[in-house]
Amino acid sequence: MNQPPVEQRRTMEAPTILEVPHPLVDRFGRVHTSLRLSVTDRCNIRCFYCMPELNAVFVPRGHLLSFEELARLATLFVQQCGIRDIRVTGGEPLVRRDLNRLIQMLAAIDGLDDLSLTTNGILLAEHAGRLRDAGLKRVNVSLDTLDEATFLKISRRSGLQQVIDGIDQAIRVGFESIKLNALAIRGITEGEVVSLIMFAAKRGIELRFIEFMPLDADRQWKDDAVLSGDSLRAIIERELGALVEVPRMDPAQPAESFELASGQRVGIIRSVTEPFCDACNRLRVTADGSVRNCLFATDETPLRDAIRSGASDETIVSRVQACVAEKRASHGIDSAGFSPPQRPMYAIGG
Ligand code: 5AD
Ligand code: SF4
Repeated sequence: MNQPPVEQRRTMEAPTILEVPHPLVDRFGRVHTSLRLSVTDRCNIRCFYCMPELNAVFVPRGHLLSFEELARLATLFVQQCGIRDIRVTGGEPLVRRDLNRLIQMLAAIDGLDDLSLTTNGILLAEHAGRLRDAGLKRVNVSLDTLDEATFLKISRRSGLQQVIDGIDQAIRVGFESIKLNALAIRGITEGEVVSLIMFAAKRGIELRFIEFMPLDADRQWKDDAVLSGDSLRAIIERELGALVEVPRMDPAQPAESFELASGQRVGIIRSVTEPFCDACNRLRVTADGSVRNCLFATDETPLRDAIRSGASDETIVSRVQACVAEKRASHGIDSAGFSPPQRPMYAIGG
């Protein structure tokens, strides 16, 4: 992969480390500057690669961090620990009432460079304008198919047109960037590749394919259910012509970026077949207030009870640092002893 060696990355990150009192550096020298904040584990659809079809178990509402708790944590992460970008995730973040109030609180944090949201798009048409006004900079919308029947098969709900309307409204209100995320699933995605790329091209936005990871609640994932980045690339080249690789600007950016002759960009995230763990700068907070140092972590660091019993900033920050220190070198999906995390994707936060 085309990344600078660890030493060089460390140098590139050095100003961040020096500027904050408690940088989040792990045993391997990875500096954590990116936070995924899950605001709910609830969702209005039921994608098979994430949620169970029936009887999803959700965190009791009282265990969800309040906006004030989330904003306090985020402020500590940014001002004490050097987090530079925050992505708000779910479940589906737009099912959390008044989310734009939280966006406003986060956008006001001094030192935060980037604020983005990942959504399934169902409620986006309704909320895009308010989110933009509240200070949200970028949105990623999940779009796996442009066929209603396939949408229903994947998400076990209807709603494709709402997602499309949401994307178009987001374009209209003018975010700094809008990206589409499509999961790469063997047996499904092959037939969607061309229409998804054309859809994105028509709107002048980027599309990224993400290899299906073992994070589904039903534990049905198998390695042959992944449509690999290499296979995808072959399909795209066969259907639409040569792809030229675009050099990666940010080593922590998981997407490899390609360009078609038309200039349309296509990203491929080979999370399974070519893990990018050695450049990982991400940390996650679950909706019920635990810090996770990896999507695939088997341990996590609960903060909610500490926050609610009046823990000091120092206590919280030192727990976060300890959690980062424990981070493993890589997810090990392809190793013999791999077992998926206890929590499926919707309970972790995408
Ligand atoms: N593998 C890879 N990505 C996933 N997502 C959800 N479940 C999985 C999985 N099993 C992604 C969705 C969405 C984001 C919230 O997380 O594509 O874009
Ligand atoms: Fe980072 Fe963990 Fe994802 Fe690897 S699996 S890229 S370490 S979050």
